[in-house]
Amino acid sequence: RGEKLKTTILKTGVLKLLRNADAHVSGQEICEKFGVSRTAVWKVINSLKEEGYDIEAVQNKGYRITSYPDLVSESELESRLDTAWAGKKIFYYESIESTNTQGKRLAEAGEGHGTLVIADMQESGRGRRGREWISPPGTGIWMTLILKPSLHPRSASMLTLVMAVSVAKACREVTGLEAMIKWPNDIVVNGRKVCGILTEMSAEMDCINHIVIGTGINVNMEQFPEEISSIATSLRIEASALVSRGMLIEKVLKNFEADYQLFIAKEDLSGLVEEYNSMLINKEKEIKVLEPGNEYTGTTHGINDRGELVVEKPDGSIENVFAGEVSV
Ligand code: BTN
Repeated sequence: RGEKLKTTILKTGVLKLLRNADAHVSGQEICEKFGVSRTAVWKVINSLKEEGYDIEAVQNKGYRITSYPDLVSESELESRLDTAWAGKKIFYYESIESTNTQGKRLAEAGEGHGTLVIADMQESGRGRRGREWISPPGTGIWMTLILKPSLHPRSASMLTLVMAVSVAKACREVTGLEAMIKWPNDIVVNGRKVCGILTEMSAEMDCINHIVIGTGINVNMEQFPEEISSIATSLRIEASALVSRGMLIEKVLKNFEADYQLFIAKEDLSGLVEEYNSMLINKEKEIKVLEPGNEYTGTTHGINDRGELVVEKPDGSIENVFAGEVSV
């Protein structure tokens, strides 16, 4: 186990060194930097090649990466991230039932604030309202962030909206697409969903044990099953180009760190409302509020500081919708 950990740390280090170098890096330099033998370097280079990195080796010059696979492995992410706490510790799985389920397990076992659980595929990914979330390998981001904040449990649901802002911005930064938020926390592009967020909490009456925020982003799928193809899409389909999952994760976590700070400072969304509302797709539109046994139409100007959707009914009265679904 110790050996394996050492290899992972070395692999991450070498990857980071090669990624950030603008020329070849000599074997000698790698040996010296990490205090390891030529054989160890050779092994690490080979294992990176096996994972899909194309590495050119030039006599007397050294190594250079010529192409990167779109991986979301520990080494790939750790060599990219420059966050203070989000994703500082990463649990990567090639396949797992659900990163949220695993995240809860790890949080209960003592894993701390900021731990990231990520999988290349999920066998039974979960959506909101008990729906399934399709999570095929190699194409999407299926990840869960463990949080252990000292918040009132009442405030926890706002974290989903914080993540929605972070993800929408990251999608814009990486693809240039006009990603929008559908209240409360779907990200849509050209009217179809590219991302869903599922937040789950373990709490006592007035204290939170842990929260897991699960984010699913459809990144590089080329198509969707017939049943959902009219409502779901991927960034690749909308941008007509492959999108780097690693880069997107890097941006999401970077944004989340900053957005989370704004949220924690006041324990509400006052610092984020403007940005959230600027990306809100339902804004100034006639919407239908689907509360069980209470359906009505109205117009919304956006959310308030607690993340509730402020809806103006035709008679001019105002309703603050705090849960449920709206349709455009
Ligand atoms: C939704 O219904 O919109 C929420 C979908 C959330 C999917 C993500 S994928 C990573 C994490 N693990 C899960 O099982 N679900 C969430």
